Amino acid sequence: MEWVNKIIQGDCLEVIGEMEDKSVDLCLTDFPYGIEIDYGVYKDTQENLKELIKKLMPELFRVCKKTYLTCGVLNQWLYPQPNWVMGWIVESGGNTGKYGFSCWQPILCYGKDARLGGKQGRARDIIKTTRRTKVEGHPCPKPLDFWKKLLWRVSVSDKDIILDPLMGSGTTCVVAKELGKQFIGIEINEKYCKIAEERIKNTTPPLPFGEKDTGFLLKYCQMSTNCRQLSSAIEIIKKLY
Ligand SMILES: C[S@@+](CC[C@H](N)C(=O)[O-])C[C@H]1O[C@@H](n2cnc3c(N)ncnc32)[C@H](O)[C@@H]1O
Repeated sequence: MEWVNKIIQGDCLEVIGEMEDKSVDLCLTDFPYGIEIDYGVYKDTQENLKELIKKLMPELFRVCKKTYLTCGVLNQWLYPQPNWVMGWIVESGGNTGKYGFSCWQPILCYGKDARLGGKQGRARDIIKTTRRTKVEGHPCPKPLDFWKKLLWRVSVSDKDIILDPLMGSGTTCVVAKELGKQFIGIEINEKYCKIAEERIKNTTPPLPFGEKDTGFLLKYCQMSTNCRQLSSAIEIIKKLY
């Protein structure tokens, strides 16, 4: 597919309009919350959010086999009814809400559970995190730690193509690359695309063999010309001995 492992600057509605039915394995995205965050190009009002949901959700259902999204507690009823709702738990209570400290966020799930379907057994439907991620130049990047656990939870195959139509600073593409999957990122703001390009460039894909295979690791170290891959290999070897 021409878009794979690329980021595209533009309006996702126009770009996705050109994609074929069910050509993407999974959409993982983080909608704006309609709370007047300054995204530069996109105006983050409740009206615009409702319009975006109305136009984008049918397109995601057409193009993607499965869709997972974060939306904020109060916005969840603006979306079509999901097949399941997973929970992102932040026990320290990152934000205050109408009911005190808000310690969880919904993850709307459209499609069957990848782990049950992939005969990987029953996995939990919550993801707990404590760490935050700061990305200079974007107002609300999702924590890498959380997003990586979420992608691992919802995507089993290494061959999966992961689409994020509201890419922001590129967190989905970064974790897809870290987990050895393919990605397509779309973002309307050119500045955020540049930030994402840089983050993706600085991301190391997984080593091309199992962690326990020390023979291969040692051989790989001797042959590697890539400093990042070499240092990842050395870290793994250190843990093994
Ligand atoms: C909540 S942020 C995503 C943040 C992202 N998860 C991250 O970790 O950086 C939503 C993003 O959607 C983008 N956006 C809004 N409408 C868009 C559209 N029609 N096409 C593409 N991007 C859009 C905004 O510019 C904003 O960066």
